[in-house]
Amino acid sequence: MKLEKFVKKSISNVPLYVSGKTIEEIASIYGIEVDNIIRLASNENPLGPSPAALEAAEEALKVSHLYPDPEAKDLCSALKEYMNINSEIVVGNGSDDVLEQIVKIFVEYGNSALIAVPTFSYYSILVKMYGGIPYNIPLKKGKNSFSFDVNSILNSVESKTKLIFICSPNNPTGNSISESELEEILETEKVVVLDEAYKEFSESSMAELTETYSNLVVTGTFSKAFGLAGLRAGYCACNTALKELILKVKQPFNVSFVAQNAALAALKDVEHLERSVKLARNGREYIIKRARGLGLKAYDSQGNFVLIKVEGKPEIVEDLFRKGIIVRGCGSFPGLSEEYFRVSVGLEDENKMFVDSLREIV
Ligand SMILES: Cc1ncc(COP(=O)(O)O)c(C=O)c1O
Repeated sequence: MKLEKFVKKSISNVPLYVSGKTIEEIASIYGIEVDNIIRLASNENPLGPSPAALEAAEEALKVSHLYPDPEAKDLCSALKEYMNINSEIVVGNGSDDVLEQIVKIFVEYGNSALIAVPTFSYYSILVKMYGGIPYNIPLKKGKNSFSFDVNSILNSVESKTKLIFICSPNNPTGNSISESELEEILETEKVVVLDEAYKEFSESSMAELTETYSNLVVTGTFSKAFGLAGLRAGYCACNTALKELILKVKQPFNVSFVAQNAALAALKDVEHLERSVKLARNGREYIIKRARGLGLKAYDSQGNFVLIKVEGKPEIVEDLFRKGIIVRGCGSFPGLSEEYFRVSVGLEDENKMFVDSLREIV
């Protein structure tokens, strides 16, 4: 039987999500000892989870025979307090899950979504999955930083546009959107998805605007600054009408109690969060300065990662892999090429190892 015959048209066109290479993959491909490899590819927290979150996860394991609260009410209340907002909060199995529910609600065959690129590839995958067409709106490339092309976004809005995706700070370019730019986009009255997965590393969050604009939904995650990527907990801030829609379409028990309880404890461990943010901010400045010192293009970043271009050296990622440094090649990002890669900020000695390897290569 030819299975392909029966597959929905929208699904046949969905590309596979490509994640960062694992330590084990690099060890086996390049014959390097696992202990001599560092992974700076997925913008994870090099300090690991908060010890309080681990303890809370262990506690939660004891009631694994019970279903978790489908609305994660305790976590939602704590998130409202953390963000100091009165809007509604909905949690998901990572922010990927929340993003999917949003696309599921708004996009169907024949619709489109505007995506400011290069950016996180999952938006485009989701839009295609639900039969929509993603339209890429390139960011503007400056000398040391990227910026959003608001005019181009505004000019591209049409009746079939259902969603506009903005990632701020943007992965992988590191730039953020300003409040006035976001408001201009919100005035289109299209639903705007503002992905703030990296907001803790930046100066600000726009989540408060969800109190004013019913067409704004702001997503966040416990995978980055809170160091819980493996547990899967993300969320969004939105108005009541959207919350009710998400509750209808999401899986009833999408976030395990282990993840809910650990996330709650992580929110309370302010010291661990502050240490994580400080490490990332100092580390990114160190990496940018050293990379520029080597004559490379390193873009300003508000995230826990840096985008670097090594002109005339498309094999740069491979060269770094060979030295046991796993970074994320950016050849598949629209508007970038094999000469670009994204490096996540690691521990101080990891950042130094990365810079030393980069120096040897270039
Ligand atoms: C911009 C952005 N949004 C969302 C995600 C997904 O995060 P989560 O682990 O919460 O699903 C990522 C992960 O890398 C990301 O870079």
